[in-house]
Amino acid sequence: MKWKPFVGTLLALSLAACMTESERNELLFGRSPVTTENVSITVQADKPGPRISPAMWGAFFEDINFGGDGGLYAEMVKNRGFEFPDAMMGWFKISPSLAKGDVTIQTESPYRPSQTHYARIASKAGAPLGISNEGFRGMGVKIGESYDFSAQIRRVDGNSSVVVQLVGEDGTTLAAAPLTGLSGNWSQVKATLKPKDRDGHARLAIFVNGPGTVDIDFVSLFPQKTWKNRAGGLRADMAQALADMHPGFLRFPGGCIVEGSELTNRYQWKNTIGPVEDRKLLIDRWNYEFPWRPTPDYYQSFGLGFFEFFQLCEDIGAAPLPLVNAGMACQFNSGELCPPDQLQPYIQDALDLIEFANGPATSEWGAKRAAMGHPDPFNPPMKMLGVGNEQWGPQYLERLTAFTKAIKAKYPEITLISDAGPSPDDDRFAYLWPKLQEFKVDGHAADIVDQHCYANPIWFLTNAHRFDNYDRNGPKVFFGEYAAQSEAICSTKNRNNLECALAEAAFMTGLERNADVVRMASYAPLFSNTEAWQWTPDLIWADSLRAVPSVNYYVQQMYCKNRGDVVLPTENTASLSMQIPRGRIGLGTNHCAAEFQDVRVTEGDRALLNATLASEAPGFTGGDTWRVASGAYQQSDPNASATSFAGNKSWSYYTLSLKARRTAGSGPIIITVCDDDTHAAASRTQWILGGTTGGPTVADPSKPEYILQTHFAEQDQLLQHDPGTLESNRWYDVKIEVLPTTKPNCAAQVQCYLDGKLIQSAPLPAHMMPQLFTSATRDEKSGDIILKVVNPRESIMYADIALNGAKQLVSLGQATILSGANADEDSLATPTKVMPRTESVVGVGAQFGYKFLPHSMTVLRLATKPGAK
Ligand code: AHR
Repeated sequence: MKWKPFVGTLLALSLAACMTESERNELLFGRSPVTTENVSITVQADKPGPRISPAMWGAFFEDINFGGDGGLYAEMVKNRGFEFPDAMMGWFKISPSLAKGDVTIQTESPYRPSQTHYARIASKAGAPLGISNEGFRGMGVKIGESYDFSAQIRRVDGNSSVVVQLVGEDGTTLAAAPLTGLSGNWSQVKATLKPKDRDGHARLAIFVNGPGTVDIDFVSLFPQKTWKNRAGGLRADMAQALADMHPGFLRFPGGCIVEGSELTNRYQWKNTIGPVEDRKLLIDRWNYEFPWRPTPDYYQSFGLGFFEFFQLCEDIGAAPLPLVNAGMACQFNSGELCPPDQLQPYIQDALDLIEFANGPATSEWGAKRAAMGHPDPFNPPMKMLGVGNEQWGPQYLERLTAFTKAIKAKYPEITLISDAGPSPDDDRFAYLWPKLQEFKVDGHAADIVDQHCYANPIWFLTNAHRFDNYDRNGPKVFFGEYAAQSEAICSTKNRNNLECALAEAAFMTGLERNADVVRMASYAPLFSNTEAWQWTPDLIWADSLRAVPSVNYYVQQMYCKNRGDVVLPTENTASLSMQIPRGRIGLGTNHCAAEFQDVRVTEGDRALLNATLASEAPGFTGGDTWRVASGAYQQSDPNASATSFAGNKSWSYYTLSLKARRTAGSGPIIITVCDDDTHAAASRTQWILGGTTGGPTVADPSKPEYILQTHFAEQDQLLQHDPGTLESNRWYDVKIEVLPTTKPNCAAQVQCYLDGKLIQSAPLPAHMMPQLFTSATRDEKSGDIILKVVNPRESIMYADIALNGAKQLVSLGQATILSGANADEDSLATPTKVMPRTESVVGVGAQFGYKFLPHSMTVLRLATKPGAK
């Protein structure tokens, strides 16, 4: 499929060029006053294209945001085994003034070797002495429901009674039960608690009444109503929300947690199976990843482990997509590598995992599955395996080669998912993607490559065509992590709003249209605890009592429920516009000090800026480390990454010339052009002199480069890089030209000169903004034609729809519509503010009209009579 309406593009481009800035922004970002547009949508119903895999739309699970422990895993007690490094974390001693005695952590003769710590309550008076657990930011209990308490208890001395209580946020006792049958040996003690009230921040308390000493370990509280009513299982509401999405696959267990910040804290699936008491606790890497949202009480108990993941897949009919560590720790952290000659245990973990999922109960790992109550192989079987998460660089290729060799030799039928870094166009991607296209190990090419993108909504809107021109014979794509970020990646202000959801929906039309290249896609992350999150946005938010799907969830659900089996080629005539690169210039440094002189910006013969910078720097934004001294404009801190901007948004095609000299430090000088200074697009192009590519764990600072890159909507895109040094204390004449171009799909040609010599020249990719997004499929069983239309604009789109070649259409169709205002969200406060609604469509025929609402996603299901093709 090609990116068709190029004539339309040029027209729109010239139109856009005649517009004012605010009109252009309106066009781009849909802030225009309510106007309408008439469009035609043509579906080639008799020319089916690529098939769509049942696993096309799926879900990505990671224990981030307390989405596993404190989320989907229904255990309500945090640090149930006192095995956190701070053994009392989550626990409090309750010692009223009349109580006497102590609560201590002991390690001698634990109840099992894997649980090395336990609490000892030694009461020395008549008043109760005890401990209380806070749960995961409070325990959610509901009236009318029952909660199963259990603990390992050993009576050490005395004959005191022991009670368990549920205590409300205000201190009310919600439920209480005596714990009986205690003996001098460790034994499991159980009780059922039925709270008399609903509370989202309840606590669990255990009291010893009267003199006596008891040891307590592995304290657990589960709602009886779990998903499928499994004891010790998953939270019913959260699992149900996932099931209701109807994901075609479930990727687990992450995410960065697969990698760990060092190899010692990588995810090891073998530690997550067998009796829960023996599953070795691991620090969750999201415990400390974001200093601005530290969660020191975040550990993985692995009560939700690989057995439970496969079982969940079975429950909801999703194809399992597990990931294993590739012998690499997270490259955003240590990037620690397992040496190639020591990879065997990692590879063996992958091979054993396949046997655990698919092998007979008589096999070594199949037997472990059987011992957990699942003698038959899991169904759906494991057909895919991810090798690493978001890795990059030659180190990854080396390890992927070793994994591919071993896995394909034993299990050639397993589809391997490989990585292409964390970004869809940056230097890491630019290195890996071509290598993966050529990748061949023992005759096996890279099967499917995982691409990730977190970016502003405009990225998703302008990338709906991303895969139209991809090589049909290259590796297939798994768009394995994506989410529109209303503010910025990792910003705590990001919202799960309709604007973002529609941008994702628009992008997904492009994934669907290209289902022969894009085999699977999943939004990330999946779950988030409203009181303990690190990362936003997320698909489903939950507090201790309720799970609320976001509006983004409903987009995913609409795709999952309306997948279709085969793509029907679809076009629309809505106009396209292009963002013209425009904006300020910037003088910058990255870990170096530098000075600048004689900055000139010209547009043809017209001087836009003429600044000698000899005695002042008028109009430059500067900052603390910038000053004019010794006849130059200086950034004086050798450790600073700082940019001083000048100019404005009206500047578009221009030439920038200046003199620059690095005066201290070893980092690059960075010259910026066309910085649009907007939040929505945040677009700029940079020439980096003396930088490095490949990411922190790959880049070799001894090999400096000249790098031409552009940035758009939170994403870098590498345009060109070549070896090139930046000598310190030497003045360079720098010139950058931003020239108009007629090259297809390009917005400008950028030419970069040093000392009068052309060093780099590259086209700037055009960011094309369609006004309407369409794709269609056919459901083979029902014969329904499924047309998906996303209108992100603030105006109604009237469409003439032609279903070319469609036979025996039923005149009554069905529309499912998600619409509202851009800022609308579903939250705990307004859980149903934006929900898909269904209505009838009358008069469906080979040609019919339909009105697509502003800010909407619409799925039209157009039935055909039985037997129609
Ligand atoms: O989804 C959150 C994180 O984003 C994932 O753990 C990681 O793969 C990506 O960087």
